[in-house]
Amino acid sequence: MTLPGVLLLDAAGPEAGFLATAAAARGHQVHAATTAAAYTGYGPELRGLLAGRVVTDFDRPGRALDEIAAYARRHGVGAVLTVNEYLTGLTAHLCAELGLPGNDPASARAARDKAAMAETFTMAGVRTPYTVLVRDQAGLRAALADPRVGFPCVVKPPSAAGSAGVTVVAGPAGAAEAARAAVGMYASGGDPHILVQAYAAGTEYSIESLTQDGTTTHLAVTRKQVTAGPKRVETGHSLPVRLPPAVEAAVYRETEAAVRAAGIRHGASHTEVIVGEDGRCTVIELGARLAAGQIGVLIQHALGIDVWAALLDIALGRPAALAPTTRRYATVRFVTSPRAGRLTSLSGFPATGPGVPFVRLRAAIGSTVHEPGANSHRLGSFVVTGLDAAEVEERADAQLRRIRIEVEPHHDEPGPVPGRPARTDR
Ligand SMILES: Nc1ncnc2c1ncn2[C@@H]1O[C@H](COP(=O)(O)OP(=O)(O)OP(=O)(O)O)[C@@H](O)[C@H]1O
Ligand SMILES: [Mg+2]
Repeated sequence: MTLPGVLLLDAAGPEAGFLATAAAARGHQVHAATTAAAYTGYGPELRGLLAGRVVTDFDRPGRALDEIAAYARRHGVGAVLTVNEYLTGLTAHLCAELGLPGNDPASARAARDKAAMAETFTMAGVRTPYTVLVRDQAGLRAALADPRVGFPCVVKPPSAAGSAGVTVVAGPAGAAEAARAAVGMYASGGDPHILVQAYAAGTEYSIESLTQDGTTTHLAVTRKQVTAGPKRVETGHSLPVRLPPAVEAAVYRETEAAVRAAGIRHGASHTEVIVGEDGRCTVIELGARLAAGQIGVLIQHALGIDVWAALLDIALGRPAALAPTTRRYATVRFVTSPRAGRLTSLSGFPATGPGVPFVRLRAAIGSTVHEPGANSHRLGSFVVTGLDAAEVEERADAQLRRIRIEVEPHHDEPGPVPGRPARTDR
């Protein structure tokens, strides 16, 4: 019997690699929809896994939909998935077009465009920060003067990801630069509008959920470690977090309402929330996809749930195994550069081994590195697992302290000692 083919929209990155590997291991033919440029970055291992590819242009979604659907029909594709935030809408439309299990295409924009998300969540009664869509300077002034926004507030682009262009603004003086940073995300086209949002104070978590036939199972609550200050950059994630029962109930209630409002019927979701001191939960955003940042790896090692197999089963319309099979703890640390410049040396990076199941170093010696301002500025990451949360966190921090990074300032940038490498402990 020939198994249905599995089509990944954009197969780049570790999460897509895990999915492709899981599908191929089960005997499915794996296909990728990719741009010509992205395909040049696919490594030999991934290329070896692929039975075929359809090269398209995701910036022209109507045409991409037709091209990919035609390819899928020709190749007996029975599941369409993506882990790419930007392609969740196209994936929903493709699943609908092909009659495959997927999300509601009519609601898919609410999971991608934060202006639509704020409107949809507010209408559905999901607690979400008060949000104003700003189109020009006068709109920005009006938003900043709106008492429902107040200070601090958050300025962000409506449809970027990876914290790019997001700034927490303490007072009126910082607003103009924050707006420029958010608009800067559209340098290559797109919607030049920005969002000004009320600030939700509290502790950040994400909820990793899988929905099958409209029934949502929460796999884990993840604690997000995020920098303070104007640029909120993720420095690590840990799971599972056990919240007090009343808080957990509030978090799941808001998450479920958000998942429903975003039209998620078959697939993963990653809901980011802030829990205030009063225990109230505010939904910051939702992605109709598995979390990035190695959270899938954390779930696998802490809970023994094979998220890749589960995602495949859901996309194929088969019952997925979602019950934990182990009770451990896992954390990931993101390694960042202390300053911008040229990376001259990096040592002490952990290797995979017992208690360290995943290591990824993506910065090459000699490459340009940045102060952390977005997730794309990470030099690498590593995962630490074990039975005890405190022990795992300590081991991860100790491992991070052992990493030595040397960065030489670019000649046109001011540095601490011009022309000489700066040495740090990170
Ligand atoms: N309204 C808010 N109140 C408080 N903090 C916020 C708010 N909006 C954003 N932040 C902070 O900024 C971070 C990035 O914002 P957001 O999640 O909206 O952007 P993103 O680009 O989608 O990020 P990512 O893709 O990394 O999740 C959040 O994780 C949070 O720390
Ligand atoms: Mg986010």
